[in-house]
Amino acid sequence: MKAIILSGGKGTRLRPLTYTGAKQLVPVANKPILWYGIESIVAAGITDIGIIISPETGEEVKTKTGNGEQFGANITYILQDKPAGLAHAVKTARPFLGDSPFVMYLGDNLIQDRLSPLLNIFKEQHMDALIMLRPVPNPTAFGVAEVDSQGKVLRLVEKPKVPPSNLALVGIYFFDKSIHAAIDRIQPSARGELEITDAIQNLIDHNLHVEASQIEGWWLDTGKKDDLLSANQIILDTCLLQPVVAGNIDEKSQISGRVQVGEGSTLINCTVRGPVTIGKGCHLENCFIGPYSSIADQVHLVDVDVEHSVILQGAKISGIHQRIVDSVIGQRAQLHAAPPRPKALRFMIGDDCQIELT
Ligand code: G1P
Repeated sequence: MKAIILSGGKGTRLRPLTYTGAKQLVPVANKPILWYGIESIVAAGITDIGIIISPETGEEVKTKTGNGEQFGANITYILQDKPAGLAHAVKTARPFLGDSPFVMYLGDNLIQDRLSPLLNIFKEQHMDALIMLRPVPNPTAFGVAEVDSQGKVLRLVEKPKVPPSNLALVGIYFFDKSIHAAIDRIQPSARGELEITDAIQNLIDHNLHVEASQIEGWWLDTGKKDDLLSANQIILDTCLLQPVVAGNIDEKSQISGRVQVGEGSTLINCTVRGPVTIGKGCHLENCFIGPYSSIADQVHLVDVDVEHSVILQGAKISGIHQRIVDSVIGQRAQLHAAPPRPKALRFMIGDDCQIELT
């Protein structure tokens, strides 16, 4: 069994962050989204992993993620020269996959459920494809499945205008080698892409063994700002179980709840209410850091109140005591304010921006 993780694409829905970096490397609770996928695959016992990269962001993904050693995996990078669809990515990975069955994981998806129970069902029942479904309020934004009363998949449609159900296709799929022939049989869709949804439909049309499983736990597609903030909240809630405070905290600072502070970080006269994660080498002075905040390494905050937000590496913020909420602040962005200031502030700020509120 092998795995491929898709880590290409343009990330248009996470702009401006993705003008400068790969969407799969945007951190959730201070860890790139992509790495959760790698860990979940390795936890299911699959260590031979191909990561599909694009010419634009591939080098960054490679440099950050490495050869897989830190995950106990062996990672091969596979360049997809153009964003021509998920099925095109599988085609590109064909030499890596050979005739092996495989799991395909979209690098911006996160699920709570473990992969191994599904992997076991897939193997035991010799399926051609096993897909995961989850009810969503906005099915037109996804691939959607029509199922009968027994849960058997009748039809799959990609981003339908009139959805046949509210069951979206989760971006994690198990395939046998028969998917390659199905991909060879399909044509590009109206948006010009070779859709994996069409390839799975083609398996169904050829009476091959396709099953669906509804997942129970949460599913996040982190390709958009609010989903990224929800993912951050859920991961801080479920994964920050044994907080470690390694930085220097002065006597005037108060820390409550589950809070993690990385090495070399200094907190002076700050109030921090968890769950919160603060990276390495940060300087925080006269700040309130409220629940569900993730602050990456080398962030500098002075006179700042922040809550339910993600602040990326090297950002510098000062002079904002109105609470910054529901915000994503890009790497090295600078945000400085002088009074008088407005009442509420809500931001999506890309890397390297400079903003002054005067
Ligand atoms: C892709 C798939 C879609 C699936 C979704 C899950 O959509 O084409 O069927 O429901 O991932 O994240 P995309 O994110 O490329 O719009």
